[in-house]
This record gives sequence, C-alpha cells and structure tokens, in this order.
Amino acid sequence: MSEQKDITILAIESSCDETAASVVVNGRTVLSNEISSQIDIHTLYGGVVPEIASRRHTERINQVIRRAMEEADRSFAQLDAIAVTCGPGLVGALLIGVSAAKALAFGTGLPLIGVHHIEGHISANFIAFPELEPPFACLVVSGGHTHLVRVSDYGEYEILGRTRDDAAGEAFDKVARAIGLGYPGGPKIDQAAKLGNPEAIHFPRGRVADSAYDFTFSGIKSAVLNYLNQMDVKGEAIRVNDVAASFQQAVVDVLVGHAMEAAEQYGFRRLALAGGVASNSALRRQLRAACGECGIDFFCPPPVLCTDNAAMIGSAAYYEYRRGVRSGYDLNAVPNLQLGERVSALRRGGVE
Ligand code: KG4
Ligand code: ZN
Repeated sequence: MSEQKDITILAIESSCDETAASVVVNGRTVLSNEISSQIDIHTLYGGVVPEIASRRHTERINQVIRRAMEEADRSFAQLDAIAVTCGPGLVGALLIGVSAAKALAFGTGLPLIGVHHIEGHISANFIAFPELEPPFACLVVSGGHTHLVRVSDYGEYEILGRTRDDAAGEAFDKVARAIGLGYPGGPKIDQAAKLGNPEAIHFPRGRVADSAYDFTFSGIKSAVLNYLNQMDVKGEAIRVNDVAASFQQAVVDVLVGHAMEAAEQYGFRRLALAGGVASNSALRRQLRAACGECGIDFFCPPPVLCTDNAAMIGSAAYYEYRRGVRSGYDLNAVPNLQLGERVSALRRGGVE
C-alpha cells in the first residue's frame, strides 16, 4: 500500500447527536476532527429527541465541514472522496449528513462513499494503532449496538455475538435516568461508580440460553428498576453511587466474560474495543487486565475516538475506497443497516 498515492477523504457523521466532519489521509492520519455536540439541548429532555437532533444537524453541518477543511488546510480540489455515515442511526439525523455529502460530491465531482457507522467505530482502532491490521476480534459497544465481531480483513466482518435486546449503552442511559443521573447516562454512571461499591448490590449477569456469545442486558436493567421500586416501597433511600457501581460491574462482567470465552474458543490473539461505551473506565481497565492474563494484545482507542466522530468514518471509507467501493447519488439513509450490508447500486467498481 505504501508506494501508492495518498488518498485524502472528507468524512461526515450525523447519525445521532453529534455533527462531525474530519479530513483523514490514508485511513490513519487525521488532519482535522471537528465535533459539534448537542448534549446541551438534549439534556433538557433527558435523552436524544430525534426531531431536535435533525434540526441541530441542519444548523451546524456546513459550519462543521468548513472548520474541518480549514483545520486540515485542504481545498476540495485536494480531496479524493467524500464519505458519510449512511446507517444505522436516526433516519432524520442521517439524512442531513447524507444530503450534505451528496451535494458536495455532486458539486465537486468527487466519488461518494457511504459508510456503515459500526464499521467506523471499529476503524477508530486503525487511527489509534497504526500498526494494527486484520485479522483481529472487536467488541463493539455503543448506544445502539453490542456486537462481538471477527474482523477477518478490511471491510470483512463475521458477527460472533450480538445483543438480543438492549444495547449496553442503552442500558447505561436507562439506568442513569432511573437513578436520577440524567443524560448522557454512560459518562455519569462511570463517574458515580468511581465513588461507589461495585459489590454493594448483586444484579444478575444475563446469559442467552441458546447462544454463548449473544448478549442480553434487559434483565440487568429490570433488576435495577425492581431494586429501586423495592427501596421506594420500604421507604429507604438509595445510594446512587453504589447502584451505579454495582450495575456497571454487572455489565462489565458480561462484556468481559463473553469476550474472553470467545477469545479462548476462537483462539484470538488480538482484541480491540470500540463504540461509545468503550470509553467506560472500568470496562477498559478490566478488559485490558483480562487480555493481559491470557496473553492477548488489547487495543482501545482514546475516548474521543470511541464516541461518535467523523475521523473513524474517514478511516473506514479509505479501506472501502481501496476495495473499489463507490456509492451512487441514490445513496440513502438506512436506519437499521446491518454490518456488511451494501446500500447503493454503485457499491463496487462504480464511478470514479
Ligand atoms: O457510539 P456512541 O457515541 O453512539 C452510538 O453509536 O450509539 O455511543 C453512545 C453511548 C451512549 O449510550 C452513552 O451513554 C455511552 O455510549 N457512553 C458510555 C460512556 N461514554 C459514553 N457508557 C459508559 N461509560 C462511559 N464513559
Ligand atoms: Zn456510534
């Protein structure tokens, strides 16, 4: 790959509540990584309000793209492609990024590349660890997804396990709301848990009966809600930090347990972590320790590359570009896009 011309990609991400744009060279070198967060506005409602997210993306997207280009000190003439998250995510939110990317691709004549959001999360590891190459295993834990994936090559994924109900991040957000920590739930539970006792309350570590590697988090979440109800009925005050720490420990035990069992069965030598929940301090620490005990190399991007950003989309797009993948102007937002699913007529060997 090294003797080929540099490929510079402008990537756009708007699948949920961050409006983001980034310029990335050869999938690994980030020239700019602009993120406009909507936390302030959604905090007022205790969670992401899709209509408000779409409106805010519309207001911010041009500004964020302009800043990313300025920070990277690149003109459109110096780019090789425009990439954008086309799914999964909130349909209205996705559409803003997809429309902006299509307009830019049409106006500049540059190729357009639609990127799977989870493929982006996994690719954050390529930015953080320039020496990392497939094959490796990846535990993807975000607000909408919990997947244990074997990355057999760039753009080639085999899903070994996935959640049957709530995603890990969703459970964090719901429990945070129930114990009064509010939005965004994951980081607040992470902070509160540092002051609590993870063994104070035992919450069940859910298992799926017919699958070793699928996940279930709804039981843990319900157990926390039941506990809160019981305490309310008894008129006892809850110790928020202990509930946060005990809940977090249950989720971390399940994630680490599944990953290590799969590592043993499949013989993984390398395990990467990805997605917003990958910024959880307890998960990072405990998975690193478990990998260390088993002689597995552990990779985990810095928190800013774990939560939603466009640099990770630019990295994934580079490897799609190298595979000859191009999207047509029929590229659409696909809210429930599956990993590995192709979305547009011109996906492979399409127009340059
Ligand atoms: O990947 P992401 O930014 O967006 C999605 O693709 O969903 O993940 C967001 C999720 C939210 O559920 C948020 O609560 C969770 O990641 N999260 C965390 C932490 N930081 C973000 N969960 C636990 N601990 C954290 N420190
Ligand atoms: Zn995400």
